[in-house]
Amino acid sequence: MSSRTGNLSPQLHAYLLARSAPADPVLTELADETARRFPASAGMQIGAEQGTFMTLLTRIAGASAAIEVGTFTGYSSICLARGLAAGGRLLCCDVSEEWTSLARQYWQKAGVDDRIELRVAPAIETLRALPAGPSLDLAFIDADKPGYIGYWDEIVPRIRPGGVILADNTLYGGQVTDTADRGASVQGIRDFNDHAVADDRVELVLLPVGDGLTLARKK
Ligand SMILES: C[S@@+](CC[C@H](N)C(=O)[O-])C[C@H]1O[C@@H](n2cnc3c(N)ncnc32)[C@H](O)[C@@H]1O
Repeated sequence: MSSRTGNLSPQLHAYLLARSAPADPVLTELADETARRFPASAGMQIGAEQGTFMTLLTRIAGASAAIEVGTFTGYSSICLARGLAAGGRLLCCDVSEEWTSLARQYWQKAGVDDRIELRVAPAIETLRALPAGPSLDLAFIDADKPGYIGYWDEIVPRIRPGGVILADNTLYGGQVTDTADRGASVQGIRDFNDHAVADDRVELVLLPVGDGLTLARKK
């Protein structure tokens, strides 16, 4: 699955990148190393424009306490960590020691390792162990798709009013629009999209950024 936004031509995508904040050399190096070491999985990484968007959004939101569900080799976590307010913290959740060991290296290279904590465990367990009250400013959901509703239901009560939730791959390569059986991941995203839009604790928009990015604000 491509992490490039929508159906943009390669030319238009290159133009868009050239008219956005300049590419970050550490993130470019991480994307290259991920593609070299984990070629079959590298498509899971968010694209450059989505990363820049998420850094800006984190900064605009003034987020200090953030959580990421699904870290892989660290690209999106660096983007979030860079947008945090001074003294801010990001809790990263993943099940893979192998993939997150590369993330740890790049957190150091990016100079954000002091503000990130990693928990290697099923994310639903990590979320359930967090304090029940609204202590989070921002969450990014990007792990196993059948798990999204469970993550959402743990995260929404823990986000403070005015806080932000992002969920990735919510267009899933365009496979969300029909009812054909396209497997558990597509069905997980279809179910999640229906669940989130019906949740009156938030207001939200599904943006055609990357592979579809749902942006929700807790009321
Ligand atoms: C799409 S990738 C995340 C990509 C990452 N956000 C980025 O931009 O580089 C999904 C990640 O979710 C992790 N994952 C899958 N199932 C999980 C679970 N039950 N709990 C925590 N992490 C899980 C995988 O190990 C993988 O690293």
